[in-house]
Amino acid sequence: MNDNNDILKVAGLKKHYKDKAAVTGLSFAFSSGEFVGLLGPNGAGKTTTIKMLTGLIRPSSGTIHYYGSDFQQESQKTKALIGVVPQQNNLDRDLTAYENLYLHAILYGIPKAARNARIDELLDFSGLADYRNRQVKTFSGGTMRRLVILRALLHEPKILFLDEPTVGLDPQIRRVIWDFIVKINRMKNTTILLTTHYIEEAERLCKRVLIINDGAIIVDGDPEALKDGIGHFVLELHKDESIEEEFFDTRPDALAALEKSTYPCKVRGVTLEDVFLKLTGRRINV
Ligand SMILES: Nc1ncnc2c1ncn2[C@@H]1O[C@H](COP(=O)(O)OP(=O)(O)O)[C@@H](O)[C@H]1O
Ligand SMILES: [Mg+2]
Repeated sequence: MNDNNDILKVAGLKKHYKDKAAVTGLSFAFSSGEFVGLLGPNGAGKTTTIKMLTGLIRPSSGTIHYYGSDFQQESQKTKALIGVVPQQNNLDRDLTAYENLYLHAILYGIPKAARNARIDELLDFSGLADYRNRQVKTFSGGTMRRLVILRALLHEPKILFLDEPTVGLDPQIRRVIWDFIVKINRMKNTTILLTTHYIEEAERLCKRVLIINDGAIIVDGDPEALKDGIGHFVLELHKDESIEEEFFDTRPDALAALEKSTYPCKVRGVTLEDVFLKLTGRRINV
């Protein structure tokens, strides 16, 4: 039934909170080493999805398999495959980086003899060795974020889930985090699923994007291919009450339409926001 080459296979996954249908039926599979983005507006169901995939909440229905093993029935074995970076930073601020990591190593059953070597290897890998013995409360937001990500790698997971990993960070710090996540994917061959509502984050990082809206995946594919599907250039018409978009395959076609328009307007390249707009009539970021 399940293809064991798929690290993760999800079928008919749903979550209802009382009268609210947060996730209405997700089905997808990931191969080992993929870098996937779950992109959608606030309230789309991203965090709910991550929580179900990592065992923090139980699905209302549907199945989750890791390498063909049922997540609910074999949770001990499958949880060892998973690393989680939650949306909220839950480090102990009074402890040092090393102490936070050591506690996590105990929690995840890493043998005592292996703990220190694993911690120091990862501190080096992430460029945080200088922070080893400093209290977390003295760290910048970006450094805390890197530490949370590093901590999720301690038990050497095969798949890493990151929920909005760069929310609230400055643009240049965001790039540092991006580079770190890419390095994890490339050098450790860890499969990545990150959620985001930042178009640029999904476009720059992810080889595959699942766009989620109202609890359902509305499109799944390579960002470049998704953009190619609607045209390469957009003419934005700034009308009195709204901005309207027209799509063109070539820049000269878009510029010709711009010449004819009587509204203030501009021509730009297509983004995943346009893909979302075309499918839903709404914007991801409002
Ligand atoms: N514990 C909860 N109880 C009731 N409704 C919830 C709960 N958690 C999330 N929701 C609702 O489910 C929907 C999806 O939320 P969430 O998964 O957090 O979206 P996202 O992470 O994409 O912003 C939202 O409408 C949200 O208000
Ligand atoms: Mg969320």
